[in-house]
Amino acid sequence: MKIFEEIESEVQSYARAFPRVFNRAKGEFIYDEEGNEYLDFLAGAGTLNYGHNNALFKEKLLEYIVSDGITHGLDLHTKAKGEFLEAFNEKILKPRGLDYVMQFTGPTGTNAVEAAIKLARNVTGRETIIAFTNGFHGVTLGALAATGNSHHRGAAGVSLNGTVRMPYDGYLGEEIDTSAYLDKVLSDSSSGVDKPAAVIIETVQGEGGINVASVEWLKNLEMVCRRHGILLIVDDIQAGCGRTGAYFSFEEAGIKPDIVTLSKSLGGYGLPFAVVLFKPELDQWKPGEHNGTFRGNNFAFVTAKAALDHYWSDDTFSNEIKRKGEYISQRLSAIVAKYGEGQFTTRGRGMFQGINCVNGEIAGKITRRAFQLGLIIETSGADDHVVKFLCPLIISDDNLNKGIDIVEQAIMEVCAKESSIPEEINYFELGRLAS
Ligand SMILES: Cc1ncc(COP(=O)(O)O)c(C=O)c1O
Repeated sequence: MKIFEEIESEVQSYARAFPRVFNRAKGEFIYDEEGNEYLDFLAGAGTLNYGHNNALFKEKLLEYIVSDGITHGLDLHTKAKGEFLEAFNEKILKPRGLDYVMQFTGPTGTNAVEAAIKLARNVTGRETIIAFTNGFHGVTLGALAATGNSHHRGAAGVSLNGTVRMPYDGYLGEEIDTSAYLDKVLSDSSSGVDKPAAVIIETVQGEGGINVASVEWLKNLEMVCRRHGILLIVDDIQAGCGRTGAYFSFEEAGIKPDIVTLSKSLGGYGLPFAVVLFKPELDQWKPGEHNGTFRGNNFAFVTAKAALDHYWSDDTFSNEIKRKGEYISQRLSAIVAKYGEGQFTTRGRGMFQGINCVNGEIAGKITRRAFQLGLIIETSGADDHVVKFLCPLIISDDNLNKGIDIVEQAIMEVCAKESSIPEEINYFELGRLAS
């Protein structure tokens, strides 16, 4: 279709890597107009943990629409919102001993991050936010200041203020505990780092290349925050909602952040939805200070509640994620050992995993070949050097196996230089191979 070339902005990104016109999707599959079927290991960059068009949520959503339930209500109290809050409190917060209030922000992750850092600054009366190397928190100016990637930062057009960068766990090598460095900097009145309002952290960095902070490091980070009277914000927009196994990615570390951001798979069905959770004593907002026309998406309340009721009423789903995560780990380790020539490594936690191919060109060849073979999978990391596995959590074992087989095939071909990928790739031609 020419229309995309004619009038859609050059800002497109995923559409460049997967240049098809998609028209249907179900579970872990997405289909293009020509009827080609693709396994989807991109899953809306972590938005489709429960798969495309999950039948359970669709039924609830259709019922709600047919009954003329509220579609748009600003931040009015609606029945759907009340029922979502009830479900979230009963199924997520209370069983985990978490005492948080919930703020509905504009429906994007980046808006939740904006709200989180504004709140931290207002409550503490301090400006600096500590963010980490390779962190990604969104592309609006406040969140972008906390984001590391120079490609995104470069588009700001103004200086990005108010954040100080610290090395993430493992950034300076396995031997160096960077939380101790942070502690030192904060303890030294001559370090040049003003006392911050908050630290913002992803427990597993998604866009930054599936970098995993260890449980020990996260515990240390929490201790450093407590010692210095600094708020701890966990940005769980990509790693949360079950991706790493537990509902929140920080549960394994036993830490209790002061503020948590959630979005992406929170709505369950792929509907835009974002929230900030925070300790009640931090709730110092004045009415409407942070607002947004689309804060609180009623359709998403309905599907988010359905997701909580169906998948999070007990441990079954969480255990399934851990089991599949273990399987992914084993398969990826075996692939790396067989074809990685001592260069490739695996990384990740739960069903949030990747293969570090060291080199972005190689990783790109692998994902392009995988696409020809019927798998949608992306790269991440500073140089796009990590092949990122982000399949829906509900994927069947057979399809999980099939998707990993495709990556193995692609890696084998690329590493053996047997790939017939020409320099100039005509994806529309090659697409006919897929199905
Ligand atoms: C950890 C994290 N925070 C924030 C965001 C921004 O979310 P959005 O793209 O919905 O603004 C993302 C997006 O990938 C993310 O991964």
